[in-house]
Amino acid sequence: MTSTLNTDQLLVDDATWWRQATVYQIYPRSFADANGDGIGDLRGIISRVPYLQGLGIDAVWLSPFYPSALADGGYDVADYRDVDPRIGTLDEFDEMVEALHGAGIRVIADIVPNHSSDDHVWFQEALAAEPGSPERARYIFRDGLGADGSEPPADWTSMFGEPAWTRVPDGQWYLHLFAKEQPDFNWDNEDVREDFRKTLRFWSDRGVDGFRIDVAHGLTKELGESLPSQAEIDAITEPGAHPLWDRDEVHEIYADWRKVFDEYTPPRIAVAEAWVSTPRRPKYASAEGLGQAFNFDLLEADFDAEQFRTIIADNLALSAASGSSTTWVFSNHDVVRHATRYALPPRNGSTVKQGLKWLLSGGTKPVADAELGLRRARAATLLMLGLPGSAYLYQGEELGLPEVADIPAAERQDPAFFRNPGVDMGRDGCRVPLPWTRAGSSFGFGPDGAHLPQPASFGELSVEAQDGAPGSTLELYRAALALRHELQAAETLEWVRSPSDVLHFARPGGWHVVTNFGTDAVPLPDGEVLLASGPLAGNLLPGATTAWIRTV
Ligand code: GLC
Repeated sequence: MTSTLNTDQLLVDDATWWRQATVYQIYPRSFADANGDGIGDLRGIISRVPYLQGLGIDAVWLSPFYPSALADGGYDVADYRDVDPRIGTLDEFDEMVEALHGAGIRVIADIVPNHSSDDHVWFQEALAAEPGSPERARYIFRDGLGADGSEPPADWTSMFGEPAWTRVPDGQWYLHLFAKEQPDFNWDNEDVREDFRKTLRFWSDRGVDGFRIDVAHGLTKELGESLPSQAEIDAITEPGAHPLWDRDEVHEIYADWRKVFDEYTPPRIAVAEAWVSTPRRPKYASAEGLGQAFNFDLLEADFDAEQFRTIIADNLALSAASGSSTTWVFSNHDVVRHATRYALPPRNGSTVKQGLKWLLSGGTKPVADAELGLRRARAATLLMLGLPGSAYLYQGEELGLPEVADIPAAERQDPAFFRNPGVDMGRDGCRVPLPWTRAGSSFGFGPDGAHLPQPASFGELSVEAQDGAPGSTLELYRAALALRHELQAAETLEWVRSPSDVLHFARPGGWHVVTNFGTDAVPLPDGEVLLASGPLAGNLLPGATTAWIRTV
């Protein structure tokens, strides 16, 4: 099978395009709305292809666009091989792929294999079928405990804070590690395995270049006869010993998928969303498996030179050892936007789990200093775009959008908000529809309103307001991405000695990246300043600023 890429900017047989690619995440329902129903759609994306091309990205990753009741923003998939009619049609999908490919932009689709929607035909069949039936065997059904089975099979808590087992009318219970509308698949079941192979081929045949694998560390579970309690599970620290997450058997599935990816030219790529400890990550990124894995370490770090230095060095060593390239990301649809995060007090090295809770808590109060947050975000991004490996950007960060903190409860959508009243603000604040124009009922998002309320400040942050404006965040991203294409060479980096608050590294070809994490200005290294994330003070680099310098 050959790829349908039809642009001379891309080589059809380039199997390594992903290694240092810049991938832009589109959350389709909030990107651009062409039909005026307040929900972004594929026609909206098609209409913005010139914008994406002008930005200088290499690929887009589309969060789920499949039919869904939106119990979890589309990550509750009712049909893996179709498009939500509110978002478009399969024909429009083909048109979108063609338009993106024509602009030299690859397409990555989001695959959600840990769970389906409870609207999925298989789950509906499972509900209609008897306990013990083949239909139920595609999910994880169990009898309850107690004389009448009215106690759940275990006291587990789901990721959104509710009990992880829900009872069905005939008395059995099913497992859902996320919302109750997201029943977990049973990956020991061959129907499930075969269906996902079919899905991967379905989208690959339509020209999709790769896949982002949702909750890639879920899928396989070790569920014996008697289930451990939540407290027992929480006490497990030995890598690979957790019954629900990051089990070694999951890699058999990805080895199988690799065969599917390799049926295509170039092979389809995949990136794992696996919230696992750093040493466990290479397995997901191995060439025999998915090939690449998200590295969320920088996303979880404070704006701090030492934390950044350690994370960068560790991850480059790790990726060199696994043969993959590393990935960098600051923002996505699950976390508080980094322009806001960097305005908050530092977390002082709390653990991944605490960090995640903090990030998902939508903790935008107190927003100490929004201007400082944006300055740091721009500096961090310019540093990231100078690193070897691939960079994942999230729609709207190129506009410096902040997290929208004050969405009224009645207008919120995220289950994380509703299931943890007063504790978790949920993720709607980073999913607010993009502002394209200074004015208009939805700032140009669509001809009518937007499905989440946009703040008045979005007008001045709109594409229209920033387009061509010297020093705007949009122009910074455009300039950085254009230069990155020009400068990107071998995936190597050399540290240059610098004061403790400053990170300085050199890439092949005399490309230097210097970030001042502190507050006092420091001397810039000699050379031509190619780009800076903020104003320079003569030949001094002010605090919270990054500069790219060419020395040859
Ligand atoms: C991933 C997605 C998140 C979703 C969850 C369940 O973490 O990024 O948005 O809620 O999986 O599918």
